[in-house]
Amino acid sequence: MKSLNTPFCKLLNIEYPIVQAPCGSSTCPELAAEVSNAGGLGMLALSRPNREETSQMISLTKTLTKKPFGVNFVLDEIVIKSRPYEEKLRVCIEEKIPLISFTYGKLTSELIKSIHNSKLLVAFTVWDLEQAIEAVNSGVDVLVAQGIEAGGHLNSKITTKDLTKELVQNFPNIPVLSAGGIATGQQFAEAINNGAQGIWIGTRFLATTESKAHEVYKQKILEAKSSDTEISTLFDIGWSNAPHRTIKNSTYNNWSKAGCPSSGKRPGEGEVIAHRTNGTPIIRYEDTPPIDGMNGDLEALALYAGTSVEYIDKIIPASKVLEELVNGAIETLCTF
Ligand SMILES: Cc1cc2nc3c(=O)[nH]c(=O)nc-3n(C[C@H](O)[C@H](O)[C@H](O)COP(=O)(O)O)c2cc1C
Repeated sequence: MKSLNTPFCKLLNIEYPIVQAPCGSSTCPELAAEVSNAGGLGMLALSRPNREETSQMISLTKTLTKKPFGVNFVLDEIVIKSRPYEEKLRVCIEEKIPLISFTYGKLTSELIKSIHNSKLLVAFTVWDLEQAIEAVNSGVDVLVAQGIEAGGHLNSKITTKDLTKELVQNFPNIPVLSAGGIATGQQFAEAINNGAQGIWIGTRFLATTESKAHEVYKQKILEAKSSDTEISTLFDIGWSNAPHRTIKNSTYNNWSKAGCPSSGKRPGEGEVIAHRTNGTPIIRYEDTPPIDGMNGDLEALALYAGTSVEYIDKIIPASKVLEELVNGAIETLCTF
């Protein structure tokens, strides 16, 4: 029987190979710490916060857990133009965060060396073999195989299972983590059986008591089936030409009924539909999902979610999610 105690666990000094995937501002210190305290690896998504907020988030997480946790940056050109990452990355290196993860953009050997010099590990989210080869040649330590089922921004053309198998076969010495569509212990066991050294779960952890996803968003995740999610480039204000999987909502359905017109001709463009806690407006088609403290027509915002919504029917503490994943996986592995 395959074990859940994979080499990735030893590498990060964690009990279970379950990573709470970075999910923008829905993820937070309370969620990351709860996951790490329960034996997984919590992650902070640091693309949006500024330098000061980054320091505060890391120090709060460190007060909530003494266990390892990771951080993440989106390196897409459009994103880093408005939200530079270099200073924040320096903070993470000084704070000795054991796993620094990136997605989009290109990882240079220099960037990776600057992290390796402090004996920290680098993960990169990839959606095809070509990208993985480039990442491994640059010195990446962990590959995150993000399949077409994933929630949020994605570029994969193949399933999580197929991508995982392809990467495991090509890089037998690099830990590969499966990302996209996973929410149950049985799927966890299947990923391990396919050669993954762990799982990287986003949407399941959004529907937890600790996540910062707004209650309206959490309810939508509970109600949705996988067929209620769709890949589009609809929520493009802030990050254009970047495909993403969301739950089909009123904004999506009205656009679809209008014949899926291109940007500039869509229904309700420029309309203010919600406000952030600090009072700044959010306009229709922005890339912003509904977070605690926002108000307005929150259902109409970008409801990023994976096909994993199919298996999510209750909001529970993140530690309970881990418990269910581990127990379900052990049960399934026994039957293989
Ligand atoms: C709301 C949301 C926001 C996300 N933000 C990020 C991010 O900031 N950085 C990143 O690398 N991936 C991000 N992702 C992708 C996740 O890290 C992960 O790959 C994905 O959620 C896996 O699919 P699943 O949601 O079916 O578990 C996001 C996903 C969601 C649902």
